[in-house]
Amino acid sequence: MEQRGIHGVWANRWTFILAAAGSAVGLGNIWKFPYMAGENGGGVFVLVYLVCIALIGIPIMKAEVLLGRHGRMSPINSMNYAIKEAGAPKAWAGIGWMGVAAGLMIMAFYSVVAGWALKYVWTTGTGVFTGMDSSAVGDQFSALLANPGQLFLWHSIFCFMTAGVVALGVNRGLGSVAKYMMPLLLASLLTLVIYSFFHGNFAAGFHFLFDFKIERLSWNGVLAALGHAFFTLSLGMGAIMAYGAYMPANASIGKTIVTVGILDTVVALASGLAIFPLVFANPPLEPSAGPGLLFVSLPIAFASMPFGAFFGTLFFILIALAAWSSSVSLLEPGTAWLVEQKKIRRVPATFLLTGFSWLLGITCVLSFNVWAEVKPWFLLFKTPFDFLDFLTSQIMLPLGGLLIAVFVGWVMKKQVVRHAVDEQSPLFDAWHFILRFISPVLVALVMILTLIDSFKDFS
Ligand code: TRP
Repeated sequence: MEQRGIHGVWANRWTFILAAAGSAVGLGNIWKFPYMAGENGGGVFVLVYLVCIALIGIPIMKAEVLLGRHGRMSPINSMNYAIKEAGAPKAWAGIGWMGVAAGLMIMAFYSVVAGWALKYVWTTGTGVFTGMDSSAVGDQFSALLANPGQLFLWHSIFCFMTAGVVALGVNRGLGSVAKYMMPLLLASLLTLVIYSFFHGNFAAGFHFLFDFKIERLSWNGVLAALGHAFFTLSLGMGAIMAYGAYMPANASIGKTIVTVGILDTVVALASGLAIFPLVFANPPLEPSAGPGLLFVSLPIAFASMPFGAFFGTLFFILIALAAWSSSVSLLEPGTAWLVEQKKIRRVPATFLLTGFSWLLGITCVLSFNVWAEVKPWFLLFKTPFDFLDFLTSQIMLPLGGLLIAVFVGWVMKKQVVRHAVDEQSPLFDAWHFILRFISPVLVALVMILTLIDSFKDFS
């Protein structure tokens, strides 16, 4: 156990908040949340998502940070530490293993989408969209997806950028990215929401996002919202556990977590409010347009906006930065573990893991062109891109989160947990109760009911 703390400690509590927020706020908020809300009926999805964040996401996030800070090592070894202390079966370490695997798999498709954003920095920056009509903007995006060489190039660049930061290590690499990005991102989003308010169909967008229409509710939609709550908060795979391991011992976990959760939710809702008014003001666009939603709706706005090329470039730079500060947390758990375990240094460890995700990412690049119609049964009739997204977000992360809740809530001694969070009683007891009886039960219920529902569809 003498290895505890070998990766360093965040410079202070704020660095932790910034790094955790940097991990949480990413493509999940700006790209994925709007298009998933669009595909899953709008307001219903948003409401279920908000409930999941409050009752499942935030309590489990606290459990993850606590496990990390308690063990002070990579998720796998922090779990081992807590398992030993609790005298629990070794199989619990599976949480850490599944997490490392999920991180690498998410990185594979995440970096492809981040590559689109990088490419769009270039496209908007050179004024390609200026004065373009909406169907031409749509054609631009289709042309990009149809071009495997381009997708591969930008995917590779993004993987390389991520590896660079992870290789630099905790404070120098991970801590410094988020500091300037977050305020700038919030300011740009706000500017876009204001633009949408004046130039889009704001009322339609607003109603779509916030009207609750019960008939649009399906178990698949609920599972999608639950999975997204995990994805957007970076939960269920040890990313936040790894960051918690570098948290100073005297910082309050509770306050920190709530700050991160609120920030993350605000960014997602602001993205929705920026995008949907534009969608409804440009009739060929559909809310259910899928993964291309962001990359088509915003350039339409930038095409007609004064200084559109400038704002467009700035915005895609910010998206790429947000994706960057998130992707590093996908690699950190595995990297930290390799450094502890195999005694290999951080730099080769980072490049080894990035290389794996980069290779797997090639299947995601091909999902949009050469293999677009290849949807084999063993990928549940999905493309590799859709399958990796589904498997990680809707199965592995909720399952990981469920196990973390059960472990901290039921397996660890309450005294040990109380000591590790270092918090006054009423708040602690409420949280502990939710972690035992509410979060895991809800996750299990949603997963089981969705499963039953999909069997019904088959028969
Ligand atoms: N939360 C990030 C986003 O919303 C993505 C992400 C980073 C993530 N690290 C993670 C998702 C760990 C799940 C688990 O873009």
